[in-house]
Amino acid sequence: FASLKQASQSGAPLYLQLRRSIEDAVNRGLIGPGDALPSERDIASMADISRVTVRKAVQDLVKGGVLVQRHGSGTFVAPRMERVEQSLSRLTSFTEDMARRGKVVRSTWLDRGLYAPSPEEMMVLGLAASEMVARVARLRIANDTPLAIERASLSASALPDPSVVSSSLYAALEETGNRPVRAVQRISAVNLNEADARLLDAPTGSASLRIERISYLASGKVIEFTRSVYRGDAYDFVAELRLGV
Ligand code: GLP
Repeated sequence: FASLKQASQSGAPLYLQLRRSIEDAVNRGLIGPGDALPSERDIASMADISRVTVRKAVQDLVKGGVLVQRHGSGTFVAPRMERVEQSLSRLTSFTEDMARRGKVVRSTWLDRGLYAPSPEEMMVLGLAASEMVARVARLRIANDTPLAIERASLSASALPDPSVVSSSLYAALEETGNRPVRAVQRISAVNLNEADARLLDAPTGSASLRIERISYLASGKVIEFTRSVYRGDAYDFVAELRLGV
């Protein structure tokens, strides 16, 4: 911080210079996850700049997820997310994936009910307009960290009472012999919108992965159409590739 006043000759606004120097310190590991930042007043006096300028830089970094503020105790470097390495070659459920890692799974229900299908659901699930669709939408949480939002649609004939899904959708489908055996998954990059960011406890606009899964029964019938948003800082998707054309 001490060099800031001198550096200010460079022309960039002071708050931006301070923001960069804090980011730099975090990236170079000079301050690590969980470390406390000096108080606003101390930074202001060290860098010889106003507290308003310090506050602006700090707020920017809080919004960007680099720092976190805890009321009453100060400002800290944000904890680094432990990343999940997820294989793309097996058709598993979220509950199974997390259980294998010894994590405790919990979900917050966003929706669970029967509806008239949207045109897209009719098309993907092969439903007639007179049929119903079962929607199961959840915020998926592992060890108290929200990792993904999953919105699944299924034909009501496969899941006539969505309230039977207590924790695992695939476990509920397995009970009625409707567990999918094959799926096609599409992964695309998106920036989190405000509502999803709030649910995932991540900054609005931060990187995330949209995952669409269409899964099939052995008969070839589509059983599940799920759209999910996964936190970009929490997942690595890994696939094994073999020589071929
Ligand atoms: C994964 C898939 C979803 C699937 C879910 C089932 O997360 N992306 O498409 O619906 O697993 O998980 P569970 O059985 O834990 O509800």
